[in-house]
Amino acid sequence: MTINDRINFGSKLGVVAAAAGSAVGLGNIWRFPYELGQNGGGAFLIIYLLCVILLGMPIMLSEFIIGRTGQANAAGSFKKLAPGQKWWIVGLMGVFTSFLIMGFYVVVSGWTLEYIVQAVSNQFINKDTATLSRVFADFSTGTLRPIIWITVFMIITATIVLAGVQKGIERSSKFLMPLLLIIIIALGIRAVTLPGGIDGLRFLFKPDFGKITSEVVLSAMGQAFFSLSLGMGCMITYGSYISKKTNLSKTVVQVTMLDTVIAILAAIAIFPAVFSLGINPAQGPELVFITLPNVFAHMPGGYVWAILFFVLLCVAALTSTISLLEVIVAYFVEEYKFHRITIILLATAGILFLGVLSSLSLGVWKDVQIFGMGFFSLFDSLTSKILMPVGGLLIAVFTGWKLNKDSMLEELSGGGQFKTNFFKFYIFLLRFVAPVAISLIILNQLGLSQWLGF
Ligand code: PHE
Repeated sequence: MTINDRINFGSKLGVVAAAAGSAVGLGNIWRFPYELGQNGGGAFLIIYLLCVILLGMPIMLSEFIIGRTGQANAAGSFKKLAPGQKWWIVGLMGVFTSFLIMGFYVVVSGWTLEYIVQAVSNQFINKDTATLSRVFADFSTGTLRPIIWITVFMIITATIVLAGVQKGIERSSKFLMPLLLIIIIALGIRAVTLPGGIDGLRFLFKPDFGKITSEVVLSAMGQAFFSLSLGMGCMITYGSYISKKTNLSKTVVQVTMLDTVIAILAAIAIFPAVFSLGINPAQGPELVFITLPNVFAHMPGGYVWAILFFVLLCVAALTSTISLLEVIVAYFVEEYKFHRITIILLATAGILFLGVLSSLSLGVWKDVQIFGMGFFSLFDSLTSKILMPVGGLLIAVFTGWKLNKDSMLEELSGGGQFKTNFFKFYIFLLRFVAPVAISLIILNQLGLSQWLGF
């Protein structure tokens, strides 16, 4: 494919919508609240926001620049920008990371399908927290049912990716995001007005700095990379589809703000309800699935809201899995000349295999442990706490130290039309702040900081 016939996202809204579709997903609504709940509430939120601003935004911009300048998949773009060097391995690492993320992400995506069915058949009404927890536990630790939903979900993802970049991804992202936003706001209003809900807001917005540990910092950083789809080539791949006329830095600001607002709104919908209903905020991955059905049961029109919410959660998951699969597909199609359909089928089979491992690790195989974790937590922790931050670090080093600054400026200014007055600060973040912060956070958690004597 030559530069000119590479498919572009059709409209400006299309790019933002597709990148936002990748970023906004289970990470915001399912993972962010439970990570926050397990990591001390308000203090986590502050570190998370710092990571988003100081690491996430510059790295997303770098990924867009790499992709749009390289005009290829995650590894191919590096090959074009640094021919004869080994930087493409960063892209390859991203393809591998995509697989692993998909390996647990499809499990939770499958849960959303189950909950659509439960919402439609009015299962939440008149059930107390204990019953809702039991229903979730019985379902998620079961064997066949979760696997069926994973399979259904993967078939939907694969079909959309097969339909191609522009048609499939852009159309599905465009109008569903605003709808999701409206529903979460409605949920938030209901949750905050529950008796005792104010304690939830206090937990969320009143930081207790005594709770900050190296684990909390690493979790917040991992969550920032995960939620913004960074460090694994996703935004490089999407960057390669962005038209040359688009203002990249503005796109970064829009995507990051939307992603962050949705995560915070999700937390506002969940924690007041958690405190009002006496649920443990550090419950873990089941938090959203036992809290929100409870809120729906207490809401006028709860039946309809519940259906709408789980349908949109499922769609939000879908626009993320589409982007993850696209990283893998673009790589094999461009680097190894696979037919799109062949690699989609192969990747789907591989992902299903990992998905089944993850799902079973919550039930019958819960005793199968690697590094003290089942497959589900292993795929989750390995990707968000190690692979994505390390990928992000390498991307920051590549764009901060290696890539030609004039060509980066050219890419950002769109021939002088767009503001680039942040450029020096941006390069400073890439050169120093990101590499130092990411290394220290990971080393600190591994306990190496003590060993190194600081
Ligand atoms: N950002 C997505 C979410 O928050 C997950 C994701 C990670 C998607 C990495 C693509 C790449 O749900």
